[in-house]
Amino acid sequence: MASMKTGSRSSWSGKWAFILAAAASAVGLGNMWRFPYLAAKYGGGTFLITYLVLVFTFGVSLLLLETAIGRKTGLSAIGAFRHFGKKFMFIGVLASVVPFIIVPYYCIIGGWVTKYAFAYIAAGPAAMADGGTFFSSFITDGVDSSIFMLIFMAAAFIIVARGVKGGIEKANLILMPALIVMAIAIAIFTLTLPGALDGAAYYLKPDLSKFSPELVIGALGQMFYSLSLAMGIMITYGSYLEKKASLTQSVTRIGCFDLGVSFLAGLMIVPAAFVAMGSGDAVAQNSGPSLMFIILPEVFADMGQVATIVGFVFFLLVFFAALTSAISLTETCVSIIQDGAGFSRRKSLVITVVFIVVAGLIINSGYNVLSFIQPLGEGSSLLDFADFISNSVIMPIVALLTCVFVGWIIKPKTIIDEVRISAPFKAAKAWSVMVKYVAPVLVVVILVTALAQSLG
Ligand code: PFF
Repeated sequence: MASMKTGSRSSWSGKWAFILAAAASAVGLGNMWRFPYLAAKYGGGTFLITYLVLVFTFGVSLLLLETAIGRKTGLSAIGAFRHFGKKFMFIGVLASVVPFIIVPYYCIIGGWVTKYAFAYIAAGPAAMADGGTFFSSFITDGVDSSIFMLIFMAAAFIIVARGVKGGIEKANLILMPALIVMAIAIAIFTLTLPGALDGAAYYLKPDLSKFSPELVIGALGQMFYSLSLAMGIMITYGSYLEKKASLTQSVTRIGCFDLGVSFLAGLMIVPAAFVAMGSGDAVAQNSGPSLMFIILPEVFADMGQVATIVGFVFFLLVFFAALTSAISLTETCVSIIQDGAGFSRRKSLVITVVFIVVAGLIINSGYNVLSFIQPLGEGSSLLDFADFISNSVIMPIVALLTCVFVGWIIKPKTIIDEVRISAPFKAAKAWSVMVKYVAPVLVVVILVTALAQSLG
């Protein structure tokens, strides 16, 4: 994206390109990997409803806020906050740190997904269905996991290098529809497995006894990550948006899209895990990151002749989701360097690539040569630490500062006026209450809980 200093910033080729790019950034490993295991852990339907309510109140409000700041100032995060006064620039700086922490470890997990897609073709489905040995020997083998991480990174970097319209928009136009079609096909397929309908009932039926503060906090954290909030991305994307596009309609569509894919991912995974384990409680107890890389391959392996193709298509789908998110993370890092240092796009891209590769290799060593470093206690890895610092610490702080900044310093009216340039904003009052009071309180609760959990 072009530097703000030269006045030659990129822009979307239309409103739909913006919606698709924001949806492509939102839909990622968070939807495919994290959402299903949280839904499984917190009793299915109850989590689904809580999440839905949060997305359409809190999530969409924050999406609107960030996109409007970006469009109003025409700048990415650091410049956008500086626009209102030099002393506010630090909020943008803090937001900009997040993608630099996330993208290296995101590419490591992207590498795991790439490895699995390959392995279904090269080694067959039985190879992965061995109770976790395949997975742990792969991630602890520094060479193999680094190679697959680099393959995944290369795919993302090539697309970013082709620019916003020629690379990112085109890739989204192919990858996103392909992703939806594959997700629907696999969801239908897993629902036809014997016993899967009981699993679907577990996933869909709300059991109010499962409702807890912990569930709400889990859902909130997931929502931030999934909607790519509080890391400057939506500010940057909003800054490329034309004034006539309706912001309220766009952000509602982005929310629907992201929620829809999460819902489908749960429908693919939770009933399948239910079939493998026989009961909802067993799924809840075993849910966690291993759901995708250990339990699901066992379900696929039992599928007979179609196992290879189902496993391959599933991991290809996750690969596409992860790739579009990695592209937007990389693009954000590039535009931060470009806007911040005034470097050319090419130079900024080279710096970003070198940083991501080096940081990725170091974090990946946390599973082998650096495994003695366990920053979050016994058994934790450098990847866990990067995830914790970005998602549980910096992002809530940025969200809190952003809400206080808009709610109490520049005042909601500044944003409401921006939103009204393109369309009426009927919910303006409710939105102001959300930004001034509700959101800051909720964010403080997430932050305190995350810190208490890590210390306790
Ligand atoms: N929203 C992505 C996911 O759910 O996997 C994660 C992410 C992607 C965060 C892109 C930030 C980002 F810029």
